Amino acid sequence: MEQKKIVYSGIQPSGNLTLGNYIGAVRNFGKMQEEFDCIYAIADLHSITVRQEPALLRRRTNELFALLLAAGVDPEKSILYVQSQVPAHAQMTWVLNCFTYMGELSRMTQFKDKSQKHSDNVNAGLLDYPVLMAADILLYQANLVPVGADQKQHLEITRDIAARFNGVYGDVFTIPEPYIPEVGARVMSLQVPTEKMSKSDPNENGFIAILDPPDVIMRKMKRAVTDSDTENAVRVAPEKPGVSNLIGIYAVLQNKTTQQVEEEFRGKGYGAFKPAVAEAIIETLKPIQDEYARYLKDKAQLEALMKQGAERAERIAVRTLNKAMKKVGFILRSY
Ligand code: TRP
Repeated sequence: MEQKKIVYSGIQPSGNLTLGNYIGAVRNFGKMQEEFDCIYAIADLHSITVRQEPALLRRRTNELFALLLAAGVDPEKSILYVQSQVPAHAQMTWVLNCFTYMGELSRMTQFKDKSQKHSDNVNAGLLDYPVLMAADILLYQANLVPVGADQKQHLEITRDIAARFNGVYGDVFTIPEPYIPEVGARVMSLQVPTEKMSKSDPNENGFIAILDPPDVIMRKMKRAVTDSDTENAVRVAPEKPGVSNLIGIYAVLQNKTTQQVEEEFRGKGYGAFKPAVAEAIIETLKPIQDEYARYLKDKAQLEALMKQGAERAERIAVRTLNKAMKKVGFILRSY
């Protein structure tokens, strides 16, 4: 029997997920389950590299867990768990720290950006963030890691750390490859369509949150900037980033090519197009929102699923951790 490849991905419980996160990542979580053995973590250990309000972090962790279930992650097919519930992550990070150079870490683009943005709190965790991420990936012997542009460098350092460790001790870790899902129109801001849609956009009209109710989605879409030309044509073009973005969104959600979308709206203009995009988004998100509400209401079920996920994750993680610990010369505790 052919072994399925292992996919690993983590997602932080900070901020509300947007339509961009949905189209770029979360939507694929469900799809990948058919082809791969998928392991999905709520990366709460990563989140505290930036100061968090405890009650809010707790709430968001629950919410994100429920949201991933609602968006199609099947806890029987995949492993869905909360990172801080599996101690092996912190333990593995320590060992890997000793195989990572300060120079490598201080060169990371995200570290440089974040230490500027949070200059009052440049803590060691912020620097060490990529090593924790390497521990996540390597503990599960992942073959594939879906990554956006912002995490590509972290996957590269993961590969370097793994190869360095393997070079000393033999094949302990699988070297992971980046995985680029087939579709994934990059979703841009509705207000500044040359920038990526971001949940931390201070202008709420720039993004659609996965949990935005229908009237809010409709309103934000109607306010979405279409371009300053007078042509009023639904057409993909570099000089029309606003309309092009909306066409991309509509195409992905309707499973159409952008040409088919242009065809569908030929001669109809933005007035007809924008509400149609809004409807497509509402139609996609509505069932997820309903399921989400159902999961969140049932705290006992959520807790049971978290426990099950952590147990299943831990079994795999501990196997790798023990192997690495033996290699470096630790005496494993007997039980
Ligand atoms: N650092 C990732 C992010 O913020 C989240 C993450 C944590 C992750 N561990 C991971 C992603 C392992 C992929 C693999 O987006």
